[in-house]
Amino acid sequence: MKRFLLSLGVIALVFSANAKDYAISTPNSTLIISAKEGEAPMFRYYGSRAEVSDVRGAGRMINGQEAYPAFGTRCDRPYASLVKQHDGDNAVKLVLEKVTESKEGTVSTLSFLLRDVAHPTLAVKLNYSAYSDCDIVKMNAEYINEGKKPIVLQKYLSAVLPIQSDNCVLLHLDGTSKNEFNEHIEPLSNGVKIISTQSGSQVSKHVNASFMLGLDGRLDETNCPVVAGTLVWMGNFHFEFHNTLQNRARTLFMGGINPAASDYTLAAKQSLATPEMVFAYSTEGKGGVTRTLHRWARKYQLLDGTKQREVLLNSWEGVHFDTTEENLNGMITDFAKLGGEMFVVDDGWFGPKYPRNNGVSSLGDWGIAKSKLPNGIRPIIDLTHKNGMKFGIWIEPEMVNVKSELYEKHPDWVLRHPDFEPSYGRGGGQMLLDLTNPKVQDHVFSVVDNILTENPDVYYIKWDNNMEMFNASSLYLPKALQSNLQVDFTLALEKILKRIRAKYPDLIIQLCASGGTRMNYGFMPYFQEMWTSDQTDAYHRIHIQWGALNFFPSNMLAAHVGSAYSKYTQRLVPIKFRFDVASMCRLGMEMVPAKLNPSEREYAKRAIAEYKVIRPIVQQGDLYRLISPYDGDKSFTSLMYTSEAKDKAVVFVYRHLVWREMAEPIIRLQGLKADAKYRIREVAPEVEGKPVRINGKVVSGKMLMEEGIVIPELSKSFKSNVPLSEIRPTNDWKSVILELTEVK
Ligand code: DGJ
Repeated sequence: MKRFLLSLGVIALVFSANAKDYAISTPNSTLIISAKEGEAPMFRYYGSRAEVSDVRGAGRMINGQEAYPAFGTRCDRPYASLVKQHDGDNAVKLVLEKVTESKEGTVSTLSFLLRDVAHPTLAVKLNYSAYSDCDIVKMNAEYINEGKKPIVLQKYLSAVLPIQSDNCVLLHLDGTSKNEFNEHIEPLSNGVKIISTQSGSQVSKHVNASFMLGLDGRLDETNCPVVAGTLVWMGNFHFEFHNTLQNRARTLFMGGINPAASDYTLAAKQSLATPEMVFAYSTEGKGGVTRTLHRWARKYQLLDGTKQREVLLNSWEGVHFDTTEENLNGMITDFAKLGGEMFVVDDGWFGPKYPRNNGVSSLGDWGIAKSKLPNGIRPIIDLTHKNGMKFGIWIEPEMVNVKSELYEKHPDWVLRHPDFEPSYGRGGGQMLLDLTNPKVQDHVFSVVDNILTENPDVYYIKWDNNMEMFNASSLYLPKALQSNLQVDFTLALEKILKRIRAKYPDLIIQLCASGGTRMNYGFMPYFQEMWTSDQTDAYHRIHIQWGALNFFPSNMLAAHVGSAYSKYTQRLVPIKFRFDVASMCRLGMEMVPAKLNPSEREYAKRAIAEYKVIRPIVQQGDLYRLISPYDGDKSFTSLMYTSEAKDKAVVFVYRHLVWREMAEPIIRLQGLKADAKYRIREVAPEVEGKPVRINGKVVSGKMLMEEGIVIPELSKSFKSNVPLSEIRPTNDWKSVILELTEVK
């Protein structure tokens, strides 16, 4: 479909001759904005790195697209900003006052200060930051009320981006708890596509604030221009993709805080910096933007992003609420024998008055449940250390149960409307604390602080959150400021997390929200890792991890080996396949190790030892996706990581569906050095099995990438005419991990 661009006459009306072009460039991308004092800044170009003269010469300059369209002048067009002034006026005309440039390390920032013509006490600063070492651009808008009266921000998005393609393919994620990160790839149809959430505290429950757009009708893994975006915000978000003939930029993206029920009253002399929107650009397909985002996240956004992560056992799936001393002691000693590095006590250990035996009670009462741990938590910590491991513990500090001492003392600390019965969460009595209340902020901080003060040797905390913001009313905020709640709640959470981090910079904290329902770049500066999903069925998990890995790096994705039988899918999956799936991210276990049979135990020991060998590449390497679980007859999945120097790689191959006479796939590797030779080693083969035939072979990078490898064992693992009594329900599963090392 072709679009009609503006005629030259109209361009002359929109642009005065001497507007200056500002280029915001990364190594491989350029965004051009032209701006002139007294006029609205205009987008001119976004795409691969280019000089203004080339863009102009090729006729690729965008005509007539405001960089930050506000409701007021061209009210027929999509707008990123809608402001109600103190006198009720809701139309603004934002024009340039000045441009400032700054540089800090690898980041150059251009800021455009805009001012409203009718109410000059409203200023909006647009910030654009470019990295010199990766293809990342960050944007946000800052609203400044210099007036003496409050104003109301009704739409205050962070960023607008022109996409110069009228034929985009969109990748986005959806899901729910235990079924997170389903990958959807679809043509961006004409009209307006909106992806947004109002789940509040579980902001990523059904959708994720991340997307990719393949340009010119394609979203290849390796070879097409792709733009990716992700919002750095722990609260509700809203994305709009405009694909209409009205757009001067062909396709227009805008995104930021969800304005739904969130009119934000900005007090006199106050400002609000909207969250940053991060964009990655690559001509190397979706693999290219994934690698760019991963590298950037590890280096600049994720706390301790380049530090190695431990192999841990978490007690939840093993014993659930049955966290007795006996159960925990058994798990600790058995896991240490398998080579474990950390033990984490999950839910169930607390509740002095109301012991936590299910989801109905105790949240808020962070003292020991003596009925389960008569000697307290100290002996458990000591035993963990005696077994050479680190210790971690579960909390859900933003919550309270109605059946708790905390609620008995402070029934006004919860989010609810004063005049009607609230909606309750898990167990029928869970409620979200009102973080806008400073006393509640102190309480949440003290949950962590008390544990660490009493037990300074606690190394890790699992911070859970099992409830959406059902009741978006605050008993603390005045009536007139109720619609500030979503933003103020998120800012309060950030304040608490900053306070915790100031005192406990090295504490490892895992973010969990009924699994991965909070996965967002906004949490990364405070949490080293996130629990990807409660779904530990390895087949299901392949899809969940595959989806999450589009945007989130492997070292922050906790992946645990559960028991053979998944209670959520009722599927049986053998131990090697389970380990091989979990080993593609941050490996852990989630079971009672004593329930493993001797051969499974032997295998677990081997797999953990081998994971420690491949861990530096898995946790820090560049990800290349080779076969998607969504493609073809859905029998295979494959992906690999390579070291930065490309001298080492780890390849994962999974068969998850057997067909009679099926052909094993040809797997073309990526990201290696064509002229180097690599030795292939199979990682953690079956205990009784033989290594695959290509184990030990030395092959050139050129061959591995251009012609690929074939692993016949992936298709020939079952015999014909096996008696029914010998048929296992696990015949589909087969997996191979290969380590490649350059032979110098
Ligand atoms: C939900 C989490 O996702 C689980 O891993 C576990 O921690 C439970 N909560 C505990 O209640």
